[in-house]
Amino acid sequence: ATQPSSPSAGQPVSLPRPVSTVAIVGAGSVGATLAYATLVRGAARRVVLYDINRAKVTAEAADIGHGIEFISQATIEGSDDIEICRDADLVVFTAGAKQHPGQSRMDLAATTVGLVKKVLPTLVDIAPHAIHMMVTNPVDVVTYAAQKITGLPPNQVFGSGTVLDSSRLRFLISRECGVAVQNVHAYVLGEHGDSEVPMWSSASIGGVPLLEWLGRDGSPMFTDAVRERLGHDVVHAAYSIIEGKGATNYAVGLAVTRIIEAVLRNEHRVLPVSTRIDDEFLGISDVCLSMPTIVDAHGARERLGLPMSTREMEQLRGSADHIRAAARSLGF
Ligand code: LAC
Repeated sequence: ATQPSSPSAGQPVSLPRPVSTVAIVGAGSVGATLAYATLVRGAARRVVLYDINRAKVTAEAADIGHGIEFISQATIEGSDDIEICRDADLVVFTAGAKQHPGQSRMDLAATTVGLVKKVLPTLVDIAPHAIHMMVTNPVDVVTYAAQKITGLPPNQVFGSGTVLDSSRLRFLISRECGVAVQNVHAYVLGEHGDSEVPMWSSASIGGVPLLEWLGRDGSPMFTDAVRERLGHDVVHAAYSIIEGKGATNYAVGLAVTRIIEAVLRNEHRVLPVSTRIDDEFLGISDVCLSMPTIVDAHGARERLGLPMSTREMEQLRGSADHIRAAARSLGF
């Protein structure tokens, strides 16, 4: 069989276009699922997985790698050497304490922030131009700490925030009204956690304001009682899933993959990610929490001035106080 001839002397050798690299820190259930989802959706051509547990990280990378024949061309490597993250375009931090049944995300703060303090400076050293996305919980406190630790511009360090909570709310609204979830626009904002705020006043279904959506009987479907129930189910979703299977991983993996796509494809997509807020109008400052934000190749950019009710604004301020108190208790 003839071998492809090597470029003849004198011909310029065209170097392969650099492929976008996502480095995922942590090969636990979230990190491994995120690596899988990122490759299945073709969000990145190269994924590297870093974890201190060599057996686990190499096994996860091998198990995903064996399936690459069945998805678009990509590569995945796993290592317990942080060097594998060198020159990544996007670093996604999923390593941290595991939320056990009954534990709140805030209960993990001290352990997770301690880990971020230890690892993040090295990641910034070896991938100085990378966008850093924090996923590990409590993600708002972790994002605030990560911005302080790295000193990077705030757009370059943000958190996955309430993209997942918003998708949970949209899923529940979709089931309630029978319209495709893709046609439901509703945000959960503030803390990715117990103090998060469903933004009912700006929610809409196919362009119809949610609060004006009528049921078959011709009366408004989303009454106070229905909104109360849906809001409760969103806040408690993770707790009940953790109770049942020990962790959450699929929806958070897909939600974070959506954010990865917005960054690597420079999509300028509006997503409720966790960023630094200093907003006089909102009366919220010196904290990281989720507001609708344009996400592109430079990370978390402009925030949208979402119309909201007085009660929603008050709840957001309460959420900000809750997050800020936790950050202060850790010395940030
Ligand atoms: C959850 C985790 C990712 O909400 O905090 O499922």
